[in-house]
Amino acid sequence: MPTNNDLERRKFLALTASFLGGTLAGRGADAKAAGVVSLKDAHIGTLEIDLRIMNQYEVQPQEVQDFYTASRKAMTGSDPEGEVAKVCQKFNRRKLGGPMLGDPSSTGVSVWMHLPQADLVKIVVSSKEGGFLKSYQSGGKARIHSLRCEGLSPDTAYEYQVQGSDGGVLGKGSFLTVPEHLSEKPFNIAFGTCYHKVGMYRPELMKLVRERGNRAMLVLGDSAVDGRKDDYGLINADYLLRNLSPSWRNMTANVPVSATWDDHDYWGNDTSGKLTNRKKPIDVDGLRQSWQSQWNNPERGEDREGIYFQTKIGPVHYIALDTRSCRVNEERGKLNCFLGEAQMNWLKQQIKESTSSCILISGGTMWSDNISDGKDSWGTWDTEGREEIFQVIDAKKDSLVLLMSGDRHGARGIAIPRPKGGKIHELEVAGMGGVPGPGAFGKDRDQQLFGYPGGTWAFGELTFSKESDELQVVFRLVDENGKELETISLKR
Ligand SMILES: [Fe+2]
Repeated sequence: MPTNNDLERRKFLALTASFLGGTLAGRGADAKAAGVVSLKDAHIGTLEIDLRIMNQYEVQPQEVQDFYTASRKAMTGSDPEGEVAKVCQKFNRRKLGGPMLGDPSSTGVSVWMHLPQADLVKIVVSSKEGGFLKSYQSGGKARIHSLRCEGLSPDTAYEYQVQGSDGGVLGKGSFLTVPEHLSEKPFNIAFGTCYHKVGMYRPELMKLVRERGNRAMLVLGDSAVDGRKDDYGLINADYLLRNLSPSWRNMTANVPVSATWDDHDYWGNDTSGKLTNRKKPIDVDGLRQSWQSQWNNPERGEDREGIYFQTKIGPVHYIALDTRSCRVNEERGKLNCFLGEAQMNWLKQQIKESTSSCILISGGTMWSDNISDGKDSWGTWDTEGREEIFQVIDAKKDSLVLLMSGDRHGARGIAIPRPKGGKIHELEVAGMGGVPGPGAFGKDRDQQLFGYPGGTWAFGELTFSKESDELQVVFRLVDENGKELETISLKR
């Protein structure tokens, strides 16, 4: 039986929905702006605000809004699993999320699914041009699956379907495997940070990531969960909000995605390590486990103290760092306090031993200090450790090593000066949510390749090819209209 509160809330929801619907219908394109949720409101994240996020650009069907509302109530209740399963039954829904692709290589991809009850899943993969049909069965029943589909051909277009144990279709999509080697034919990888939930419902950028044929989308922090601390009910509700976004579903069922966290999807603003800003303990292990289950990252099964990972996206070596949970708060300013000793050693080893001609290293916050004087990042935590990493990169003469980052909303390219006229390039693209932030340029304008202030909507794209036996890497900054704001050839 619905309580009075429920009835009141439903009435309110109906009003919200009809208000937005009327606004959108009546005022055309201008109505979009009317629905945009501010970053401040996104941080608050009440049910009312999260429904507004859902309806910002297109009012979602009432059934979707009701399902989200009921699921959120169940997730934050005393028996989340049991109650969520009942809600799914009531709404005749067989999944909570997925398919979400991940870990792309030249021979395979992983398919992630989140089901309300433990079940088997089967993935049927066929080549777009015909002649290939293979199915992959999960090893056992589970609620969350990341099923590896191996034995595929490089640089090939595939379609797939996910089936439940009764053969019913749970989802489908397509993907392109990554080339095994660099060639004259370029391939590209997209990246960006700071969706802050609000960006997850805006269609243009994610549509462009897919349409431009990106083989992967690297998400680097502040994406689906916003300031939920260790409230796992609300964390899961934020993941459901993500999973219900048509734009997000469309991109991730067709472009493999990986994700690392920054402060807002770790715990809350400027938080890191084992202690909150008020010195209360953080459930680091629980947060890491939750992260691994709700994303489809490479090496997600590794027993590691941190969510960092590395993978070969064909000829490109991608190293994704955990720049939040391994920080040692009480040793701020000392060597290894930012990544932790284990991750630091692992990172240096990865760079030294890498045989790829192009290495991408991502972190949630900026590597350089130009924009905000190292605020909440390397420059105010571990300058000695950063220098050690830079020296390992300097010594990597046969590889182009690019740094990627986010956090300072907007987008910037930095040429970090190194001895003997050398440079290390940092690409910071924090434009997936178009949220406010600092100005375009920092103190030393000469260090910047480009700068766009907070409020900019854009994603980054790297294109890899080989010409006359030489690696060619081109960075593009693409805005929501598909305009290439920047096109920059990157060399050592
Ligand atoms: Fe952010």
